[in-house]
Amino acid sequence: MRKIIKNGVIVTATDMYEADVLIEGEKIAAIGRHFEEAGAEIVDAAGCYIFPGGIDPHTHLDMPFGGTVTKDDFQTGTIAAAFGGTTTIIDFCLTNKGEPLKKAIDTWHQKAKDKAVIDYGFHLMISEINDDVLEQLPNVIEEEGITSFKVFMAYKNVFQADDGTLYRTLVAAKELGALVMVHAENGDVIDYLTKKALEDGNTDPIYHALTRPPEVEGEATGRACQLTALAHSQLYVVHVSCAQAVEQIAKARDKGWNVWGETCPQYLVLDQSYLEKPDFEGAKYVWSPPLREKWHQEVLWNALKNGQLQTLGSDQCSFDFKGQKELGRGDFTKIPNGGPMIEDRVSILFSEGVKKGRITLNQFVDIVSTRSAKLFGLFPKKGTIAVGSDADLVIFDPNIERVISAKTHHMAVDYNAFEGMKVTGEPVSVLVRGEFVVRDKTFVGKPGHGQFIKRNKYGKQTVPKQGSLSI
Ligand code: URP
Ligand code: ZN
Ligand code: ZN
Ligand code: ZN
Repeated sequence: MRKIIKNGVIVTATDMYEADVLIEGEKIAAIGRHFEEAGAEIVDAAGCYIFPGGIDPHTHLDMPFGGTVTKDDFQTGTIAAAFGGTTTIIDFCLTNKGEPLKKAIDTWHQKAKDKAVIDYGFHLMISEINDDVLEQLPNVIEEEGITSFKVFMAYKNVFQADDGTLYRTLVAAKELGALVMVHAENGDVIDYLTKKALEDGNTDPIYHALTRPPEVEGEATGRACQLTALAHSQLYVVHVSCAQAVEQIAKARDKGWNVWGETCPQYLVLDQSYLEKPDFEGAKYVWSPPLREKWHQEVLWNALKNGQLQTLGSDQCSFDFKGQKELGRGDFTKIPNGGPMIEDRVSILFSEGVKKGRITLNQFVDIVSTRSAKLFGLFPKKGTIAVGSDADLVIFDPNIERVISAKTHHMAVDYNAFEGMKVTGEPVSVLVRGEFVVRDKTFVGKPGHGQFIKRNKYGKQTVPKQGSLSI
């Protein structure tokens, strides 16, 4: 089925122009004017931008964590993502020490299969490195199409890996063509500080932030950068929340090291005082790294603007306030860490970033889509609007004003971390590989339409087969 999207303004990471988009099947077949309309479905995008679909490089759907399981699974989570203008996610596949990696990957495929409404890939968590694991890694990359590894430097006795594991993962990734991602916080120091806080009777949610100060993030980020240089490897620091971490990434990049950084919408617009909300409501804002003092926000915005940080992930990891976050009443260390962010990621960056003049429209597209496609081996299949690319498109009205609320969001959780926030701009219609998933703000997608995408190795691109040019 041919579709022609007419009258919109196409915006990519580099360009902006008026043109029509001809879609044939799953692909963009041509961009231009005066296409043969007979037999085609005409979609009017007048007054709207057409963006490449958002790529969220950091989600946790259907993930067991903190004694419970995230509320959003691959169905509710990807529906919410689509409403928010995201057409591809890369989710973290957890592994268990001593278990075959293939088993963990198959478990994650089962979670997503028949549920996802948008496309998805996986990052693989590395919890240990030994000869057995090293033997399996080439297969993970070549056969499974999973070309990024995640190492946790925090969550002691749960996910935390030691420096030897991080270093050996960096060496292996360099050799095999993968990108290493780190959760950079010093887990040992946090373990000491949290135990001490509880001993002193400090149990409220705010102590989550006070026991994970920005220095522990800065220290771990710097350590990961140094180990990357030692291994001549490549590093992507997830969820950067503070000036101390930005400084380490900027220093590493100045030296020419292959270090990249992601921040998240929550760190750009919320601050540490949210954890002090009364009646245990602060628990809604407990995730790691924690929210920071407000002044860090400007540092993060500037880092996005000047390229020290390159991407925006949601770190979607949602737990209900009732019944899940409440597990930590009387002991903040038992509050499941994470928040519901998948739906508002794109809108917040557009409204707070573009509309407020902090970043340009092209930078916005780069940050929410293109750069992640390039770093994670999806480009140019995804992440741009070009002939031969997947027709993953967002028709976005830049002038709609609305208020974010749990009453209207599509995530399965009982609260929204951005409740009451006014934003300008909203995705109106969203297509994934040529099919509408959201049309005129109504869900029209199908669970199972989302496909697993095998990704290219770090730094590699494949030339797409061109769609048939029928102009
Ligand atoms: O608190 C968070 N961020 N939960 C998700 C797991 C992680 O650390 O990314
Ligand atoms: Zn993390
Ligand atoms: Zn995360
Ligand atoms: Zn389909």
